[in-house]
Amino acid sequence: MKIIIASPIDDQAVEKLKSKHDVVCVFNATNEELQKTMHDREALVFRSGVKINAALLESAPELKLIVRAGSGVDNIDLDYVYQRGIEFHRIPGPGAEAVAELAFTFMLALSRRLFEADRSMREAHWAKYQLSGYLIRRKVLGIVGMGDIGAHVAEMGRAWNMQVIGCVENFSLERVAKFHRKEINLLGFDQVIEHSDYLCLHVPLKENTRNLINAGVLARMKPGSYLINLARGGVVDEQALYESLTNGGRLRGAALDVHKNEGEGKLSPLADLPNVILTPHVGAMAVDAQREIGHIAVELINNFGVQPTAH
Ligand code: MLT
Repeated sequence: MKIIIASPIDDQAVEKLKSKHDVVCVFNATNEELQKTMHDREALVFRSGVKINAALLESAPELKLIVRAGSGVDNIDLDYVYQRGIEFHRIPGPGAEAVAELAFTFMLALSRRLFEADRSMREAHWAKYQLSGYLIRRKVLGIVGMGDIGAHVAEMGRAWNMQVIGCVENFSLERVAKFHRKEINLLGFDQVIEHSDYLCLHVPLKENTRNLINAGVLARMKPGSYLINLARGGVVDEQALYESLTNGGRLRGAALDVHKNEGEGKLSPLADLPNVILTPHVGAMAVDAQREIGHIAVELINNFGVQPTAH
């Protein structure tokens, strides 16, 4: 097949694809640059950081298969994809585990002020008595969005003896019962934000989740709580978060892996706050997870159009 890989994926997967197919890798390209390469491509592999809009897809009349090497679909025009009958696959599982582990890393690092401690040591400052932190055991972990990632975070929270609550967009008694068996309680959004010591966001970016965490919500969060965003930058109003963290708001700290403006040269408006951890959208960047995603992507492409044999 003629493949375009529009975002870096696992090296081994690229090599495997190159051994069987005609592969072009176009990374960090503008939409115009991408568009120029699309005309004869039959398959597209992409991740976050590129915008796969209708105009770009229109420049690829031969396109039959799209593989989202990860989870989020906020950067692709799926209506157009389905309307044109292009086969589309996501690979959400392996990245979900990596994102959940980073959520936990953030909770522990915020609670024990890890980065403040590290920075003070590098300035030869021994801040032992100024850097008390908090236990996470027995605290309330609230999860907004209990899909693949949220459910992993919830289970890790139970393993750390946290009280875990969460909310979902599509509430059903079956889901309540399923989580209840794991000692995870599904509640409404308001209850989750008001009772959580750690509020973790794991919802996709859609019209109803844009700026979901805004000034009004921040003002209702539990005093001394932490906000952790590994969903999408647009889910949190960063300006409101800045105000809350600087003007005596309720939050003790925040960690954000995703940002309203992402990419080289972009500085977060929260960058000067010591109680904020910032990372460059690395939630799914665990080598093992990316290897697995790469492996599944190769299988999907190699098996495309192959009829399953009847038994
Ligand atoms: C995802 O949605 O899978 C993540 O944002 C990872 C990525 O594509 O970079």
